[in-house]
Amino acid sequence: MEKKLKNILVIYYSRHGHTARMVRRIVEKLKELGNHAEMMPVAEALREGVDWDNWDFVLFGTPVVYGTYHPSVFEFVRNNCTRLDRKPNAMFNVTVVARTPYKATVEGNRYMQNFLKRSPWRPKDLKCFAGKIDYPNLNFFDKRCIQLIMKITNGPTDPTVCIDYTDWDEVNRYAEHISRLAEQG
Ligand SMILES: Cc1cc2nc3c(=O)[nH]c(=O)nc-3n(C[C@H](O)[C@H](O)[C@H](O)COP(=O)(O)O)c2cc1C
Repeated sequence: MEKKLKNILVIYYSRHGHTARMVRRIVEKLKELGNHAEMMPVAEALREGVDWDNWDFVLFGTPVVYGTYHPSVFEFVRNNCTRLDRKPNAMFNVTVVARTPYKATVEGNRYMQNFLKRSPWRPKDLKCFAGKIDYPNLNFFDKRCIQLIMKITNGPTDPTVCIDYTDWDEVNRYAEHISRLAEQG
């Protein structure tokens, strides 16, 4: 029997482009698996709206910046909570704390727990990814702040390094997982 193609929308926020790259990889993989998939920045989703009837599955991805999520993330979730809840859906966050195994779990990632406390939307599937520290591309203020956070959490403080903690094979496997969830409906 031929596999049924699903329409999957990935809405995301990205401040420095890393989450956008992860979303691009997820979308490519979803397409390879026979789905129709598109990515949409949350700002566009807020401005233009989402044509909900077009999509079988909605995935939402966002990084944590300075301990929280961008206001547009909560604005979108608040405005579209009912629509989201009616569809098969999933959500992932991207943080540097998730470079350690326990903080990469939903229970151990305090930012995911904060999201669940604050969000009226209950995503049906949750995932925590480790992100990237890209000192050379940060402005002076951000560089100093991240160095301070890293000092406290035993992370790298060398302002010349760029470390990608994302396991890209895991991102591929996650796309396969999302494809299976979409298929199940
Ligand atoms: C200014 C800044 C603040 C950040 N704050 C946090 C934080 O509070 N907790 C954390 O785990 N990661 C933090 N990160 C790490 C980001 O979540 C990580 O770099 C992610 O890959 C950024 O994704 P983006 O490029 O899509 O914005 C921060 C990164 C930056 C640049």
